[in-house]
Amino acid sequence: MNLAAVILAAGQGTRMKSNLPKVLHRVAGKPMVRYALDSVCALGIDKTVMVVGYGAEQVRAAVGDAALFVEQVEQRGTGHAVRQARDTLRGKADTILVTYADMPLLRAETLQRLVDLHATARATITMLTVRSDDSMGFGRILRTQRQRVLGIIEESDATPAQRAIRELNCGVYCFDAAWMWEHLPRLKPNGSKREYYLTDLVALAVKERRKIESIVLDDVTEVIGVNTRAHLARAEKIMRARINDALMEAGVTLIDPTTTYIDAGVEVGMDTVIEPNTQLKGKTRVGANCRIGPSALLSDAQVGDGCEVIASVIRESVLEERSHVGPWANLRPGTHLAREVYIGTHGEVKNSFVGAGTHIGHFSYIGDAHLGARVNIGAGTITANYDGKQKNRTVIGDDAFIGSDTMLIAPVTIGARARTGAGAVVTKDVPDDSLAVGAPARVIRKLDKAIP
Ligand code: UD1
Ligand code: CA
Repeated sequence: MNLAAVILAAGQGTRMKSNLPKVLHRVAGKPMVRYALDSVCALGIDKTVMVVGYGAEQVRAAVGDAALFVEQVEQRGTGHAVRQARDTLRGKADTILVTYADMPLLRAETLQRLVDLHATARATITMLTVRSDDSMGFGRILRTQRQRVLGIIEESDATPAQRAIRELNCGVYCFDAAWMWEHLPRLKPNGSKREYYLTDLVALAVKERRKIESIVLDDVTEVIGVNTRAHLARAEKIMRARINDALMEAGVTLIDPTTTYIDAGVEVGMDTVIEPNTQLKGKTRVGANCRIGPSALLSDAQVGDGCEVIASVIRESVLEERSHVGPWANLRPGTHLAREVYIGTHGEVKNSFVGAGTHIGHFSYIGDAHLGARVNIGAGTITANYDGKQKNRTVIGDDAFIGSDTMLIAPVTIGARARTGAGAVVTKDVPDDSLAVGAPARVIRKLDKAIP
């Protein structure tokens, strides 16, 4: 079977009340449209056409070369939308999978089942349906007494008796490509909006006595379409539960999954414990045997094995193994902690490398700095990295000991094993093995290398 996919994404999503095209709104950190793309990609489909309309440029930019694009300038219905893909796909595939970009919860496995049934049954149309008491405004599946599919009736066009039907059309189908391209132009416009319904293809196939198959979904949440912010929140909650379940399945302890917010694609290693009120966002990767939280926010953070992060914020930073951060630390972009670094209460670090075993115990700001190994930063130490015009670097050598409340006026270098006295204001470089004190600090003596 030579399979191609058409993803419908032209709708405006008026009810979102947003400047952002609906399909770019995120669920668990990932734009909705990416879920549809990732699912068809998981099926090994390499020809995907996305039908875009509202906000086409933005959608294109977000999707890049993961799909080909066709534009549906006026949204004249799902049948009209699929037809826009005809010139791009006709003759290039024998089976067309149609799905929506605003159904982020639909599983790739479900699409796979649909495709498999379509192939084994050699059907003309294979459609996905679901039984639900809540109609969600979906079209109803009409069947004969012997359960043969007769057609799909849209809710707005349905009689009261038809409205009572509980089997709903999910809007996801496999079509025999040649048949579909041939029949799409035969659709007639419906209703006052004169929309071309893709669903009318079912009645055409019935009339021609074509084979129509269906898969009835058990899990109605898979086909929740996102049309409002409330739907978005609902999808978010379900997706979050799925992500959390998968992590627990893989050996991660979540103390309270309901207050653990993990984005799609985040990786967490085995035997890591995630405490309540914790968010792991973006491209975050956490190693094994870590303890993260309570109340931690990690965004695009790479955390090595055995680290501990309590009540802190970490963004675009790297932590090697067995470092400790928090409580109330703020690691800003460009921070790299080597192994066994200790950052305590109210430490802020930005764009800095912190060498192995270094301690920044309390109330410090380290910015644009390179700290060696086993440095001790006394409480209240500040790198004054900004002179009002530019950012300047601070370099501190291995085993240096910075006294409490030291001001390091960058650019400045503190030598290896050097010390500063409490309250020193360091404006000039301090050589290796020297003690500098006062404001402005001056070197008062060479140190015996045996000290610290
Ligand atoms: C459609 C089905 C309905 C089904 C429901 C499931 C038709 C006629 N009806 O409803 O039976 O129960 O989906 O969600 O197909 N879109 C375009 N261009 C258009 C119209 C729609 O790209 O001109 C896209 C939308 O962006 C959306 C998807 O198609 O992603 C579905 O559109 P929507 O209006 O939500 O579906 P309905 O037509 O109401
Ligand atoms: Ca519609």
